[in-house]
Amino acid sequence: MNDPIIANAQRHFAELVRAQLERCEKMKTTQEQLDYRALKPLIIGFCWGDGIGPIISQETERVLKSILKDEIASGRVEFRTIAGLTIENRAKQMKAIPDDVLQELKACHVILKAPTTTPEKGGPYPNIESANVAMRRELDLFANVRPVKIPQEGVDWMFFRENTEGEYVLGSKGFAAGDDVTFDFKVITRPGAERIIRMAFDYARKNNINTVTVVTKANVVKTTDGLFLEVADQVAQDFPGIKWEGWYIDIMTAKLIDPKRRTQFRVMVMPNLYGDILTDEAAEMQGGVGTAGSANIGTRYAMFEAIHGSAPRMISEGRGQYADPSSLIKAAGMMLNHIGYIEQADKLQKALEICTQFEKKMTITGRDTGVTGREFCDYILKKMGSADLDEKYQSYI
Ligand code: IPM
Ligand code: MG
Repeated sequence: MNDPIIANAQRHFAELVRAQLERCEKMKTTQEQLDYRALKPLIIGFCWGDGIGPIISQETERVLKSILKDEIASGRVEFRTIAGLTIENRAKQMKAIPDDVLQELKACHVILKAPTTTPEKGGPYPNIESANVAMRRELDLFANVRPVKIPQEGVDWMFFRENTEGEYVLGSKGFAAGDDVTFDFKVITRPGAERIIRMAFDYARKNNINTVTVVTKANVVKTTDGLFLEVADQVAQDFPGIKWEGWYIDIMTAKLIDPKRRTQFRVMVMPNLYGDILTDEAAEMQGGVGTAGSANIGTRYAMFEAIHGSAPRMISEGRGQYADPSSLIKAAGMMLNHIGYIEQADKLQKALEICTQFEKKMTITGRDTGVTGREFCDYILKKMGSADLDEKYQSYI
């Protein structure tokens, strides 16, 4: 036996266990939910990100400022641009989120976030942690809520992806035992599983949906995913009338493309990594990851983002103006909904669906074969302002 390696492993693992036990205890103390209506001003922080981020942010800001014109004028809502969350600044400071940026974020109530580059080993930037993952952890944004809809095919899915645990929480804390043997770790806690599963059941109850699908790989990943299922069963006791069924991630990915079966899924809840994969698959069916939005919800903070990356290749190839702003605009709509601007969010959602899925008068291809993001945004704004928006929408569904 190679004793120094074992001793090192023991120290490393003990440290991880200690930190997770502490995190778990913290989770058990309840935090107060913000009452957005009572805030004046309600501060929206807008991170423009990098790559195509600033380009699609500009368009999204146009949409938001037109919707919230009166609120901004009356001082009820305040916009703050958070400029420092770029890969260049993060690499310079060698931090996933530089300290001053984190302070700025924490001074806001809700955050809208454009894509930020996630470095990888061997890439052009130092291999710092993903800003998304760090923000989810730092602001304890435990629920990643991702809707996917294909109305003409009867698909109406709501994914509840656990956002602060799984492989992610310790993703940058793996361990190499010598040169040849490497480990990463996955952690699921009882309170962590409970809060996301409860949110999924709550959503099902509010929307009169009688089944919650719980996705794991508990037949193989027995301890952590096993706990997730156990908690699902316990939470379900509090929701009579809603049944839950367990699916394994492999067959779930298959069934999402089965046109007969997939319309029966409505609410799905799952640990972090499975949710990462499944929601990209689902978004692709809806029209591409560029069409999806994502909400990261915690108790004190909430952050809304596009689910795609920063597409640095589009920038290096000079195609930035053709980037699709729909996903970030959709995220902005989810944010409006979350902070209580329900009618405005509904209008925006309808206009977006008409432009991206039904009427499709303009196509955006990411190149000069389609329209620019600005032109597409003009199209959405025009649709949103049209008097017959509701009738038009009804005629499509
Ligand atoms: C997402 C992204 C992130 C994730 C990346 C950028 C770290 O893929 O939000 O789904 O894996 O969560
Ligand atoms: Mg992803």
